[in-house]
Amino acid sequence: MRLLVTGGAGFIGANFVHATVRDRADVAVTVLDSLTYAGSRESLTPVEADIRLVEGDITDAGLVGKLVAESDAVVHFAAETHVDNALADPEPFVRSNVLGTFTILEAVRQHGAGTPIRLHHVSTDEVYGDLPLDDPARFTESSPYNPSSPYSSTKAAADMLVRAWVRSYRVAATISNCSNNYGPYQHVEKFIPRQITNILTGRRPKLYGTGANVRDWIHVDDHNAAVWRILTDGAHGRTYLIGADGERDNLSVLRAILRLMGCGPDEFDHVTDRAGHDLRYAIDPTPLRDELGWRPRHTDFDAGLRATIDWYRTHEAWWRPIKDAVEATYAEREQ
Ligand code: NAD
Ligand code: TYD
Repeated sequence: MRLLVTGGAGFIGANFVHATVRDRADVAVTVLDSLTYAGSRESLTPVEADIRLVEGDITDAGLVGKLVAESDAVVHFAAETHVDNALADPEPFVRSNVLGTFTILEAVRQHGAGTPIRLHHVSTDEVYGDLPLDDPARFTESSPYNPSSPYSSTKAAADMLVRAWVRSYRVAATISNCSNNYGPYQHVEKFIPRQITNILTGRRPKLYGTGANVRDWIHVDDHNAAVWRILTDGAHGRTYLIGADGERDNLSVLRAILRLMGCGPDEFDHVTDRAGHDLRYAIDPTPLRDELGWRPRHTDFDAGLRATIDWYRTHEAWWRPIKDAVEATYAEREQ
């Protein structure tokens, strides 16, 4: 299989490429990534001899068309992904997430007219908006779209384009909406790596508001295993929700990090809450389990967190050069 992976130099994409090179000798991987601030060539160094990395933008129709024409399948991870950045400047989110997905769909439609080119579009549970804190309800495939942030609204728009291209042009696409990922190679702007690297650099962790907001955590390798299941066995046109029953409030996650890193439970700062902060995300992954037989392997959150902390401890060269600038941006915004 000739597989094009967009956003393969980002957090989830790089882990996906590593796993693919490791487990699937019959797959030839091309990564298309514009190496924004969130993409890193170094994340692909361990597999650089095994893949082709093309530095380019998913809104470049000529380049995307050429690469898609050479592929049997596309897994589309590339996106602007950080909610706080979207609140500060939404324009790149509209461009990359909406126009970028449109550009990929058009290439798949045009070049897949004879032999269909399989497309898997990677999305987020944030398209469904948020759930109340004190409620057992979880998101399902039929939950209404109700995005809150500039990030989630652009992901929702992209999902709608994919659905329309399936219906109108019979593009052979699937969609997955996954909950919050953690693991190695995640940018230090995101919650878990930010707190770990704050502690490693002598800063205090920063908790938005009271920390009551709930996220449904999944290890990145479990997400990527689900993406492979859907790519090979998913029904075309279907949406699958990916989650690993990992609901935790932010304060509990932060306290687990503090404990595992030998700090006291109150050694952190409360900072101003995020505007429009979604309260709770929770996924019902029953169809993925029942129909495709997927099961998460990383079910011990403490063990996954410990391994992630160890990764950041042992890969300081990967994150240290960008840490001060990320914190300087946060400090400006927190004023
Ligand atoms: P990330 O920000 O770590 O990486 C995104 C990658 O896309 C980067 O390498 C960046 O350079 C690249 N990119 C951005 N705009 C581009 C453009 N215009 N052209 C080419 N490349 C571009 O993101 P991530 O956390 O790895 O997320 C990957 C995908 O998974 C996204 O679509 C995101 O919405 C989705 N997702 C993420 C999570 C999560 O918890 N991180 C959860 C569910 C879904
Ligand atoms: P984040 O990693 O940005 O993911 P998302 O907002 O897409 O779920 O944030 C996860 C949660 O952690 C979210 O509720 C916001 C909160 N948060 C903090 O409390 N402190 C921080 O420094 C960051 C970056 C996030």
